[in-house]
Amino acid sequence: MAAARQNSVSGTPPPAHTTLAYTRTSEVEDLPHATKKKMADHLRKLEAMFTITPQRMRMIVEAFKETLENGLAKPGQVVPMIPTYVFGWPTADETGEFLAVDLGGTNLRVCLVRLTGGGKFEITQSKYRLTEEQKQDDGQKLFDFCGECLKAFTDANIESGEIQKDKILPLGFTFSYPCSQDRIDHGELIRWTKGFGAPNTEGHDVVAMFRKSLALHSVPAEVVALTCDTTGTLIASHYVNPATKIACIFGTGCNAAYMERVGDIPKIAHLGIDPNAEMAINCEWGAFDSFEHENLPRTKYDVIIDEKSNKPGEQAFEKLISGRYLGEILRLVICQLIDEGTVFLGQNTYKIEIAYSFDTAFLSLMESDPTDELLMIIGIFSHFFALETTLAERQFFRALAKLVGRRAARLSACGIAAIVSKMGYLDEGCAVGADGSLYNKYPGFADRIHEGLVDIFGEKGRNIVTHHAEDGSGIGSAIVAAMTKIRKDAGLYPDL
Ligand code: GLC
Repeated sequence: MAAARQNSVSGTPPPAHTTLAYTRTSEVEDLPHATKKKMADHLRKLEAMFTITPQRMRMIVEAFKETLENGLAKPGQVVPMIPTYVFGWPTADETGEFLAVDLGGTNLRVCLVRLTGGGKFEITQSKYRLTEEQKQDDGQKLFDFCGECLKAFTDANIESGEIQKDKILPLGFTFSYPCSQDRIDHGELIRWTKGFGAPNTEGHDVVAMFRKSLALHSVPAEVVALTCDTTGTLIASHYVNPATKIACIFGTGCNAAYMERVGDIPKIAHLGIDPNAEMAINCEWGAFDSFEHENLPRTKYDVIIDEKSNKPGEQAFEKLISGRYLGEILRLVICQLIDEGTVFLGQNTYKIEIAYSFDTAFLSLMESDPTDELLMIIGIFSHFFALETTLAERQFFRALAKLVGRRAARLSACGIAAIVSKMGYLDEGCAVGADGSLYNKYPGFADRIHEGLVDIFGEKGRNIVTHHAEDGSGIGSAIVAAMTKIRKDAGLYPDL
């Protein structure tokens, strides 16, 4: 079939500068494109594969709940349910000046945060793009890059008078990968996620590595707390909206955090913490159903993504949901249709055959295309992949994006429902602070989560409302650092 594809009718692909308002010529119309009926048949099959019924959702929620309980009971579980040593909620009266560093999925961000009390804050920040090479390069080098960026940031802020010279600032380090923690300023990386693979990091204390790089670059900062983006989001969202009980990230990765009663975290009973105290739990729920693959309905496309990833078997839930993978799922479906000779026959398809070339942002754009002709979709395919499309194909691609996006949102609802149900929040209701590119930019993602919650819980599902969260890895991390200082100064669990 590959030969047929290269046997191009028109010969050359359209020029790369094709604009969004591109109009097809009659010559292009004559290409042997898929018929409307054929596309509809394919769509029906894919619909069956990607649709998750309410009954199936409820089964997933039950299994999820059990997994959460197991993670709290015993160390070393697949979903690790990490005790964060963030004790209880902020008062909103935390004050002070803090540095925050966020090593997340796509960017490195460094911030200067001023908490001014009464739930208010000011923030100055700089972002640095991480290259794919850095994500795979030696771990200490990655941390040294963080140290270097932070040094440049603090130097610039000292010069402008924002930071007082010779002052050592407390720092909150947001490192959004699963780390097992014995105390708040320590964390051993369990495994890299989101495509990172820097050697000599898994199994190491990332705070120690980060401190080394701060010393190397003489950065005037002292790491007070290590957090994850979800924990930071939980705390930052509660800081401004005390109804928030759960926080989720739907971005390059996907994860949740919530506040648990210490007495209900059996695996830390030996620490002798007051059982009625509260502690934030970083679920790391992206790992749900990893390795065993017993609970989630994976399609053959999901299996390919998993097997070709740098971490086969791992982050099974995340691979069906997060922004890192949705575009790739859609691309794999398209590639199969190309191989079958259903779409793009006679066109050169090499660009779309490159793994991860179909950005998840394209799905958002395709779903939100307001034109009858689907001009945005014409633009995406012609501009980025040098491919001509018929209206029937474009309608099909849009429907496909909807299936993939909707499945992600409904699975996300299952995760939220598991926490809600475990914690008994359904009757009283609760707010869920959510952040990440998928939640913020994918049209209808939040509505589909809400729809999913109603499918799971019935009308009561409406009591659970997600909202755009406060900046967890900047503000949240600074608040966590402030809370930690206050706790330790008061002599409360000073070694934790
Ligand atoms: C991945 C990380 C997790 C993070 C999430 C969202 O799942 O393992 O720590 O919270 O991505 O960024």
